[in-house]
Amino acid sequence: MRILITGGTGFIGRPLCAALAADGHDLTVLSRRPERVSARCGAGVTAWRALAEWRDDCFFDAVINLAGEPIFDARWTAARKRLLWDSRVALTRELVARMSRARRTPAVLISGSAIGFYGDQGAAAVNERAGPAGDFLGTLCAAWEKAAQEAEVRGVRVCLLRTGLVLHAGGGMLGRMLTPFRLGLGARLGDGRQWMSWIHLDDWVALTRHMLTDPDASGPFNLTAPEPVTNAVFTATLACALHRPALAVVPAWLLRAALGERACLLLTSQRVLPWRVGTTLGCRFRYARLGEVFARGAPSGSGGR
Ligand SMILES: NC(=O)c1ccc[n+]([C@@H]2O[C@H](COP(=O)([O-])OP(=O)(O)OC[C@H]3O[C@@H](n4cnc5c(N)ncnc54)[C@H](OP(=O)(O)O)[C@@H]3O)[C@@H](O)[C@H]2O)c1
Repeated sequence: MRILITGGTGFIGRPLCAALAADGHDLTVLSRRPERVSARCGAGVTAWRALAEWRDDCFFDAVINLAGEPIFDARWTAARKRLLWDSRVALTRELVARMSRARRTPAVLISGSAIGFYGDQGAAAVNERAGPAGDFLGTLCAAWEKAAQEAEVRGVRVCLLRTGLVLHAGGGMLGRMLTPFRLGLGARLGDGRQWMSWIHLDDWVALTRHMLTDPDASGPFNLTAPEPVTNAVFTATLACALHRPALAVVPAWLLRAALGERACLLLTSQRVLPWRVGTTLGCRFRYARLGEVFARGAPSGSGGR
């Protein structure tokens, strides 16, 4: 397949590109720094700086849309929120408009979203039938999804990836947590009762690959392992895998004071279940339980499929 990927240079985009290239697909990656694409995504990958490079004779079978300014990296000022919004919603609108103008429309669009869609759910388990939250992340995810779904009017099969916390030692939130945990400074966040819905990077890549070719795959999919855990369990499991104590507690008020509104990324309780991964895709998870992530090559869990 010929595949256009946005966000292919990122933490979850890079291993996806590696897997798709190994499958024999022909990849084009959109990047603000195209000179880094071959190093990050593979030597044979074509790099585009802008969608304007999509000429009339260009044809893609599929588009995968993961681009977005990092959510956790800076305080959510009004300007930062605008950047988080535009780098997802405006870019997706532009992408869909460009897809619609193509002489041959791609058959499938796989587009990013996140479990932030659901907002704080307390201890209640949620599946893909739940609606969006009214907070910033819920509104952002809903608008991001709606922009992608506009492609459906052109007959494009659209899959929406409501991704949970992606785990791999090589980056993301787990990558940031490892050093303090290895130093014995791992800490429960707030009262530790908030649910964390996670997915191992290998499972995320495998499910996204599956959606490329499964004609029944469309609509939202919660990309989260079937057994979410509370923050207290997550903290204890990681500390145990590293043979270190994690006795400290970072109070919620301190996180809110230090991080501002984005503290919700650490304190919001989301017990999200991957209902449609089973019922629609018929897929199973290689890493269903958190203990398995840390047991196989602990705690990198870099087992590969
Ligand atoms: N990792 C997770 O746990 C997780 C969980 C839920 C949802 N997600 C979502 O999945 C997507 C990929 O996540 P990730 O962890 O791989 O993120 P990442 O490592 O921060 O990568 C983000 C990608 O988006 C592009 N990008 C960043 N800022 C941009 C901007 N202002 N305009 C256009 N492109 C921009 C970057 O490409 P260039 O620098 O090459 O342009 C980069 O490849 C994100 O949209 C994220 O919100 C991730």
